Order: sequence, then structure tokens, then C-alpha cells
Amino acid sequence: MCGIVGYTGPREAYPIIIKGLKRLEYRGYDSTGVALQNSSGLKVYKKKGKVAELEDYIVGKDLHSNIGIGHTRWATHGEPSDRNAHPHQSSSGKLAMIHNGIIENYSQLKKELTNKGYNFTSDTDTEVLLNFIEEIKKNNQCDLEEAVRIALKRVTGAYVILLLDEDNPDTIIAARKGSPLVIGIGKGEHFLGSDASPMLEYTKEVVYINDYELAIVKPDELILKNLGNEKITPYVQKLDIELAAIEKGGYEHFMLKEIFEQPQTIYDCLRGRLDAAEGTITMSGIQQYAEQIVSASRIVMIACGTSWHAGLVAEYIFEELCRINVEVEYASEFRYRNPVINKGDVIIAISQSGETADTLVAIEKAKEQGAIILGVVNVVGSSIARISHAGAYTHAGPEIGVASTKAFTAQLAVLTMIALKIGYIKGTISEERYQNLLNELQEIPEKAAWTLKHSDSIKALAEKYKDARDFLYLGRGYNFPVALEGALKLKEISYIHAEGYPAAEMKHGPIALVDEELPVVFVATKDTYHEKVVSNMQEIKARKGKVISVITEGDEVSRELSNDVMIIPEADEILAPMLSVIPLQLLAYYIGVAKGCDVDKPRNLAKSVTVE
Ligand code: M6R
Repeated sequence: MCGIVGYTGPREAYPIIIKGLKRLEYRGYDSTGVALQNSSGLKVYKKKGKVAELEDYIVGKDLHSNIGIGHTRWATHGEPSDRNAHPHQSSSGKLAMIHNGIIENYSQLKKELTNKGYNFTSDTDTEVLLNFIEEIKKNNQCDLEEAVRIALKRVTGAYVILLLDEDNPDTIIAARKGSPLVIGIGKGEHFLGSDASPMLEYTKEVVYINDYELAIVKPDELILKNLGNEKITPYVQKLDIELAAIEKGGYEHFMLKEIFEQPQTIYDCLRGRLDAAEGTITMSGIQQYAEQIVSASRIVMIACGTSWHAGLVAEYIFEELCRINVEVEYASEFRYRNPVINKGDVIIAISQSGETADTLVAIEKAKEQGAIILGVVNVVGSSIARISHAGAYTHAGPEIGVASTKAFTAQLAVLTMIALKIGYIKGTISEERYQNLLNELQEIPEKAAWTLKHSDSIKALAEKYKDARDFLYLGRGYNFPVALEGALKLKEISYIHAEGYPAAEMKHGPIALVDEELPVVFVATKDTYHEKVVSNMQEIKARKGKVISVITEGDEVSRELSNDVMIIPEADEILAPMLSVIPLQLLAYYIGVAKGCDVDKPRNLAKSVTVE
């Protein structure tokens, strides 16, 4: 949440920062701002709204500068407004700061500062921290670096902060705890960002900053220290992302591009791991802990949102193939309970961004209690990937649309491969079933492409149903979490109220909602439960509900019972969710577009939820 960018070097900073902010806008888009510094001092320009609104506002202003910081906000303390937008300036006007995170003890610090005569121009925790730093600098007669270090020892909460100091005009001071920060290393220049996207065209060499580290960033020098003022050697890594991966590539929205990328992303995820001809799955991170997973009496999946839905599908798959008890936990609940973690428990943390605050803290907690942590993460080098004992990347490439699509199917592909591997080692899956599933898994990218070829008919459905007030999504077994995911996509993107439910459970309450106005989306592909789902469809028809179904090609029974259908090719029930979710992603997308919603940046949301 909140995107931060910084630059110091010989180039003009403003164009780099504004372009970087556009790339990070998925992290928050309530308000935007930049701070620049030139011979006439520090300049701060900020505005409520998206980056484009700042660009309009800034026309004609003095933008010349070789150093700068920029911020795109997802509001926590204080409504979205010009005065709450970042950067904030200290009381003296000599310091400017941007922040991603929450300072939990800000009200205590604010009281102390108010007693000393400080006034505040915003409602933010950020302005409090900034003035706290300024007060320490003044009182202790120290430089900014030292003041930041002292201040951060008093702070509770999460932060990435970047500071400019008028008295030290080529240096950015940065620090992190709990929110992401990447520093790109150029020739005589440095780039800073919440992720690497703002620096992709300038450098491929980056340093991921760790919690409790402080960076002193000058054009030709990067000094890393811990809060005890000891120097740390920066660990430089090579980026493996191309610029094209973060561009729309001719699509109207990132979400649509990402939905259509799925045949490729699922393929990329399987590539080098699945060899159906040889009957093997190679996942070195998992191999390392295979013995412990095989003998685990319990696996706990921890995640949020769409990733949690992937965990639910995986629960069914692991229990079926590996005969291990699986629990799926919302990270936000798990972290505040007093959960029972037994020695040998395996935690699988699922996250696209690898930065979700609740998931991160939940797995830290489980790790402290001796659990083995496996990360199923998309963003390489992210915090969850780094604190996990081992894991497997999903290799879906950058996902920029706020609604998660390709990350979900890649998570399913990885989780299925882990389950197959463990089930095979454990002997809980027959040789024949194992081989069949490997063969079928290999065909999923092609089947995803087939499913996408039917997108036009889904566009027509979107037009037909876009004015519905509510939707109900129903599914059973492997398709129940898919129903949940379909409902989540629709509400995120179109703001239509949608509920996902187990199809059989509908009789215990939600059926009261059914009337001739209510579209009920069934995920009714051919599987063990198909006949039961057909009965549930009948129940909805009998009450005049509108049945829209995701069905398997050739299923005439479901087709006849449905007002409208979306088709997927035949697939094993374990693998079908990777396909049955695609029409639901498309339906949500096209309804969102038909309603004129900003599908890539839905209101109130942010891609990477780095606050709890
Ligand atoms: O990055 P993560 O997978 O940890 O994110 C979890 C959720 O915040 C995320 O899936 C969210 O629900 C998406 N907006 C869903 O489309």
C-alpha cells in the first residue's frame, strides 16, 4: 500500500519519478506528490487524486532537480486530500518525507510534540514522525541519519520512509520495517522504489532492503546500516523482469492482459518443473523439505483474498492426493489468535505480492513456534519469499491489475505440483493416477487458451447482466473456492454485491435471496459432484432465479437448465479450477468495463496490502 519512488544522480529527477509513480499506482491512488530539490531549495507538489491529476496541476512549476522523491497514497490516517497527501514537510520546511506503512504510536509522539509547540497541517502519522525526527535532529545537534536512527527506535508499526534534507542536497535517507524497499544501482545514480518497476529501464542491479536497515543514498554511493549504526554490505541481485512485462501491450487494461496471459503464465510455471514424459516434478525448494512434508500431520495454508481461495482449492487437492490434514487460515485471523502450532507442522504461505502485512506477520509467528514455512509467492525477492524456509515461485510475471487473475491460476499450478510430488513420495496416489494427472496438467495451458477463445460470448453476457444488483456464485468441491473467487472478482471490479457459497449450503439461507431478478452463477463443470450441482440448479430454476453456468463442453444437461452458459474444455476435477475460474474473471472484467468502472484501479483498493 502506497507506492514510493526516489532518485538521486545526474538526470532530471521529475520524469523518472512521475513515470515510476504511474507504475506503482496499483499500490494506492488516493493522492500523489513529489518533492524535488534544486539551488533554490526544496519544492513539494502534491494533489488529491491519481498521478494524472498531479501532472495537470504541476504544469509550469519549477521541476528542475537531480534528486527527488514521489508518493502515491492509499489513505490510512486522514482522508484523501491535498493536505494529507505526501510528501510532508517538517515544521522548519527543511525536511521532506514520504512514508508507506502505519506509525502505531503516533498519537503519543504527537502529544509530546504538541506540548513542545509543534503544529500539524495534516491528519497523518507521517507528519508526526517527520517532526519527531526534526525535533531529535535539532535537540541532539546531529545529522539526519542519526536523527532517523534514534527516532525509529521509538517507533512502533511499519514503515518505509524516504527523506530529503535541504542541508544535504544530494542524499536520500531511507529506512524500512515491514514494507518493501528496493534500491536500483546505476552508474553514478541510484533509484528507489516500492518494487523494481520504476527502475527497469535504467538498471537490472538491485538491493532489497531488509527490516531495520537504513540506507544513505547518494549518486555514487550506497551505504547500508542497521539501527545500531553498523555498516552492512549490500547484497546486489540481478533483476529478471523485462519492461514489456509491466506494459499493457495493446490491451485496454492490465487486468484483461493478465487474464489473456494465463496460457503462457501457467506454462511458465510448469516449465522446467513438470516432465510428464519422464513422470517427474522437479521443485528444489520443496525437495529440500520433502521428508518433513511427507511426515507432517498437518499443513496450514495462510493467505488473504484471492490467495486464500487458492489455499482452499489446495486443501481439497492435498487431502485427496497426500492424505494430510489441511487447514486454511485467513492470515489476519491467524496472527491475532493463539493458534496451536505443533512441531513438524508445515505452513504454506500463499501470496502474489509477497508483501501482504497480515500474511508476513502470521508466518513470522508460526516460524517462531517452530513450523516449517514454505512460500508460494509470485514476486521474486519479496519479504515472504525471503523469510520462508523454502518454497516455489509462481513465475506469473508482474501482476499490475489490482484484481488478481493470473497469479491465482499460477498458485493453483504450483500447489498442485507440490501435492502431486508429496503424494507420489508418500505413496498416497497410485502410479496411474499420478501419471494421468501429470499428462493432464501439461495440457492445461492449451485448455486455458481454448477457454479464452470464447471470451466474446462472455462479453455479451456482461451486457445482459450488468445492471443486476446482486449475484450469487455457487460451486461444490474443488469448484466451491472458484465460486468464492468469482464473487470476489465481481465485487472488486464492478461494485456489484456478490456472494460465493457452497452450492449445497445455499438451502440453509441464501436461497431466500432468489427471485427472478437474481443471477446465480453455478460453477458446474463435470466432476464427482456434478449431479448434485444439477439438483441445486433445479432448485434455483424452480424459484425463477437466472442460472448462468460454467459448464464442461458437451454437457447438455447443464446447458438446458441454464439461462446462459460459459464453456470450458474437459479436465480432471483436480485441475478444472485453473480453467473454470477464467470465464468468471472475464465476466467480472466485462461487467466492470460495461459499468464504466476503473477496473485496473478499483475504488478503495490497493494491490499490495502492506498495512494490517
Ligand atoms: O499479494 P497477496 O496475494 O498476498 O494479496 C492478497 C490479497 O490482498 C489479494 O488477493 C486481493 O484480495 C486481490 N485484490 C484480489 O483480487
